[in-house]
Amino acid sequence: MIAKTSPGELGAPQYPDYLPHYDPLESVEPVGPFEHDEPGLRADKECPNLLKGATKIFELSPHCGTEIQGVQISRLSNAALDEMAYLCAERGCLVFRDQDYTDIGFEAQKKIASYFGPLHKHGWMPHPENGPVEFVIVYDSKERSDLRIRKSWARKSPIQFHVDQSPEAQPPGLTFFCMLESPPGSGGDTIISSMYRAFERLSPSFRKRLEGLTALHTTANPIARELRDNGDLAVLRRPITKAVHPVVQVHPVTGRKSLFVNSSYTQRITGWDDEESDMMLRFLFDHVNRGQDFACRVRYEPGTVVVWDQRCTQHSQTLDYEAGGRRHAFRLTPLANVPIPSKADDDDGGDCAQDEGRMMLNLC
Ligand code: SIN
Repeated sequence: MIAKTSPGELGAPQYPDYLPHYDPLESVEPVGPFEHDEPGLRADKECPNLLKGATKIFELSPHCGTEIQGVQISRLSNAALDEMAYLCAERGCLVFRDQDYTDIGFEAQKKIASYFGPLHKHGWMPHPENGPVEFVIVYDSKERSDLRIRKSWARKSPIQFHVDQSPEAQPPGLTFFCMLESPPGSGGDTIISSMYRAFERLSPSFRKRLEGLTALHTTANPIARELRDNGDLAVLRRPITKAVHPVVQVHPVTGRKSLFVNSSYTQRITGWDDEESDMMLRFLFDHVNRGQDFACRVRYEPGTVVVWDQRCTQHSQTLDYEAGGRRHAFRLTPLANVPIPSKADDDDGGDCAQDEGRMMLNLC
């Protein structure tokens, strides 16, 4: 029989410096406008610097996710980091195991992540008490009664695909999610889904209808929930953030089009009546939720670092492990380019004609 540590046998947290801290009096200054210098555009597409020490490389699913074993993120050169940005833009997310990145300290961790852009400062998620505000701490454990993670997901499905902080004028690109301790046994995976494929799998004339549309993204709902759940102790470091973004954006590295609306932050389609906007967004959110065929599921071990590109993916936690199991991770979230709107191609490679053909077949 396989030995399993029950949550009742939890030891002390292994990373006490990274425990979450909630300060209702704190405020932060947003990053503000900046010129994004895209590392993925400088990369050698064969990725010789990133992959030279790799012992095993495999795809997690056809449309999303590649696992790279034998490479330490902490030792990568700038050329290798450029290649990481390129490969991540192609594959949506990269998974690295057994990383010493967990143990190199706040400043070294920030330095690597900020190679990809200035780090986002979150409006309500906790950071370490004596650590930089750019760290977002994800911590679940039975030994503390003040944790907000389960409270914030009460009364709704924990499966909520989203882009972290899409209401920023320059939303995140590459993002680092680093697992310090994972629950015993299975559970606590992250599902990451390709928004390239989410877009490509729609029928050609429907895709054309989406291109050119814009939508409002806002932090209003999460901030309202923070207030509802925590009252006077709510953490509100920043006012509500809002931005209007294209519904379909073009990735600056791959040139591919991806769907860019998400159920956590996208509120309405610009210029459409409420009923029209609600109907369209509901359809698109359901399309992403059902997209098992364009998602991968990342299982964690302590020392796993997942890097995902928020310009071509969405992700969801699973929160399926035994309540009280300790799950401890941090996220660093570099901001990137202003989203590039996609335009419907005049030459669609015959896709639309095929679409018409499908319609005729249906009529027959
Ligand atoms: C996140 O949404 O950034 C966290 C994902 C997770 O906890 O699995």
